Amino acid sequence: MSNPLTTTVFHADLLKDKVALVTGGGSGIGFGLATAFARHGAVVIIIGRNKERLEKAAKSIFDSNGGKCITAAADVRDAAALRTAIHEAVNGWTGKLDILVNCAAGNFLAPIANLSPNAFKTVIEIDLLGTFNATKACQTFLQASKGCILNISATLAYRGTPLQSHPSAAKAGVDSLTRSLATEWGPYGIRTNGIAPGPIDATEGIKRLMPKGAREQMIKGVPLQRLGSVNDIEHAALFLVSPAASYINGRCTVL
Ligand code: NAP
Ligand code: COA
Repeated sequence: MSNPLTTTVFHADLLKDKVALVTGGGSGIGFGLATAFARHGAVVIIIGRNKERLEKAAKSIFDSNGGKCITAAADVRDAAALRTAIHEAVNGWTGKLDILVNCAAGNFLAPIANLSPNAFKTVIEIDLLGTFNATKACQTFLQASKGCILNISATLAYRGTPLQSHPSAAKAGVDSLTRSLATEWGPYGIRTNGIAPGPIDATEGIKRLMPKGAREQMIKGVPLQRLGSVNDIEHAALFLVSPAASYINGRCTVL
């Protein structure tokens, strides 16, 4: 698990009385975001397929800052089951939802030549359809709260990343959905933005995707001469879901 946010430039009550739902909140970046939101006063709901992992994450969020964390096991590809899980979790707690973070994703390295149609489809369904499914399931709650959506994307598609055609296509779709939602749901008072991380240190994504020995080379290519951290994503996310970003809509921040 990533290190929970240890220092913050934000007020501890930034998200007081807010309820935030994070898909993929049981590990990695999603867990970091759920922990950071809880530390700033939000009640968090985390979603993933692995119930045991979710429970462990919820306990860690409670132990680290007394944060209230509700877990709901569901596969984001299954629209009906996801909707039921989200509605039960939200209605079973406060009946309201202010923030949705779409962070669940799947990935592996594979050349197009070795990708079966089902392999390509699997990642499109988790990343893109999953984002669509969770967003639709939360619409009425977000409309009522004039809430916001944060879609966790990736920089993979910007230049064409080898062995990553499947998540690249999926995340390009997610970015497109961010812009469409911003225009269609902006009039309801719902803001939709994205964060597109490059390689983020100490995450599952890095473990799976960084070729052996590539770390130093990768760092040399980053102007700030280091990889991003989960804390970097947490800080950007806290800003984007806060009232300080109340006129930012339909934008994807690259980190
Ligand atoms: P991670 O720890 O593997 O997080 C992915 C999460 O998604 C897991 O908690 C997983 O939980 C959940 N998930 C996967 N498939 C799911 C499904 N079908 N239904 C519900 N939940 C599902 O990976 P990470 O590296 O932190 O990545 C988090 C996000 O950041 C992803 O959107 C990724 O694309 C993006 N990102 C990461 C990096 C990086 O360097 N790490 C770079 C760019 C973008 P279960 O297995 O329990 O379902
Ligand atoms: N290379 C090529 N194809 C692969 C592959 C690989 N490394 N890994 C899986 N596939 C293919 C499978 O062979 C299958 O295709 P097929 O039916 O034609 O054989 C298809 O992808 C689906 O695999 P399956 O294992 O059934 O999918 P799943 O739904 O159980 O799991 C994954 C989805 C594969 C994305 C899995 O890695 C996962 O759950 N990942 C979540 C965590 C993660 O990826 N974190 C990083 C986020 S950046």
